[in-house]
Amino acid sequence: MAKFLIRENGPLHGEVTISGSKNAMLPIMAATLLTDGKCQIMDVPRLRDVDVMCNMLRRIGADVQEDYDNNTLYIEATEITDNEAPYALVSKMRASILVLGPLLARTGRARVPLPGGCAIGARPVDLHLKGFAALGAKIVEGKGYVEAVADKLIGCNLYLDFPSVGATENIMMAAVLAEGTTVIENAAEEPEIVDLANFLNKMGARIKGAGTDTIKIEGVEKLNGVLHNVIPDRIETGTFMVAAAITRGNILIRNAVPDHVKPVIAKLKECGVVIEDCLDGLLVRGDVNPLVATDIKTLPYPGFPTDMQSIFMAFLTTVQGTSNVIETVFENRFMHVAELERMGARIETEEDRKAMITGVEKLKGAEVLATDLRAGAAVVLAGMVAEGETQVSEIYHIERGYERFIDKFRALGADIERVEEKVKE
Ligand code: EPZ
Repeated sequence: MAKFLIRENGPLHGEVTISGSKNAMLPIMAATLLTDGKCQIMDVPRLRDVDVMCNMLRRIGADVQEDYDNNTLYIEATEITDNEAPYALVSKMRASILVLGPLLARTGRARVPLPGGCAIGARPVDLHLKGFAALGAKIVEGKGYVEAVADKLIGCNLYLDFPSVGATENIMMAAVLAEGTTVIENAAEEPEIVDLANFLNKMGARIKGAGTDTIKIEGVEKLNGVLHNVIPDRIETGTFMVAAAITRGNILIRNAVPDHVKPVIAKLKECGVVIEDCLDGLLVRGDVNPLVATDIKTLPYPGFPTDMQSIFMAFLTTVQGTSNVIETVFENRFMHVAELERMGARIETEEDRKAMITGVEKLKGAEVLATDLRAGAAVVLAGMVAEGETQVSEIYHIERGYERFIDKFRALGADIERVEEKVKE
């Protein structure tokens, strides 16, 4: 198993270019199953999760050609040869559940092994299934799998108990070929939902309201293959913004969309970070003012993103004063707290939802784990400002969601390397 070795290296400075969004890319790849036409997707990030989804689509019958020299994928699902997503791939990536909606809409039947929970929570799919049932599908929940069958999907009005990103995406993809109109109330409003709706509308769908809490979808007969550029990754953007803050550095972030990271900009400014939205991108300076504590509470978009919670907490362990962090989206997203405490951070938690962080003068390098994708990024950032060496294991979590993670940080002056972990005899 590989690990990262990180040593303290002073303020990061220079420029970084943000890659395409993992969380926009995955539903858009699933949506290519809705047409027998050829889709060309650009600004594709080279990620393990994208590779898993490519293999998933191939197993279902799509032809997938990768041109990573140009960050482009060509996907053509001329025919669907298998209505079932294989467990071996679903177990690698929860987002595999996103093939359910398109398969159901295209062929009338879809079967997916239930993606288990993961480090950050049980991750149920009840809202996805509630949406498919409302559209007229018969849902069968077997041992470890779920199957949806429908001769015809009929548009309907439905309310999501929680603005689930995945459920909104899956239901939208099922409704685009349904008969009649579907209205999703209390829909998720994330930029990735808007990017998926834009992709579907280019294909010939008729979707209005994406990005608000009410999305209206008028079913159409057929969709066509299209060409699409994926939006930049707002969580990668936030990660590099916090990297400038925690190292007291100065980074120009190219290809960022300021509108997609408003809560992160607002909170970093509250801490004294200087952020300028200039022509070339977002200039983030942690080297101007003494940086101080603030409070964050994660919420569905446009609130503070849960995916930024662990990364921002790592930063808060290094600033003067006491900060409060409340996680409202996932039930177990404080796995990084124990890892940060091993590095000398002072954090008190309450029911795995509330944390009180008191800044310390200096973190200490330690052997830590990446417990999930974003928690991995958090401990790497902490390692950049900790005394001595930090070793981060289980880095496959990080490599599934950040393109050229090490290269980008080394180009900014970070002292980080990837080594193979010696297997203990
Ligand atoms: C998406 O996951 C993202 N993944 C996650 O990013 C992100 O953290 C999450 O949205 C919230 O923003 C992708 O887009 C591939 P949800 P998703 O459905 O769709 C509960 C990362 O780091 N819920 O909005 O799974 C659920 O348990 C990943 O890139 C139900 O109860 O998130 C959770 O508590 C991590 N029933 C909450 O809603 C359901 O049917 C939010 O889940 C579905 C969800």
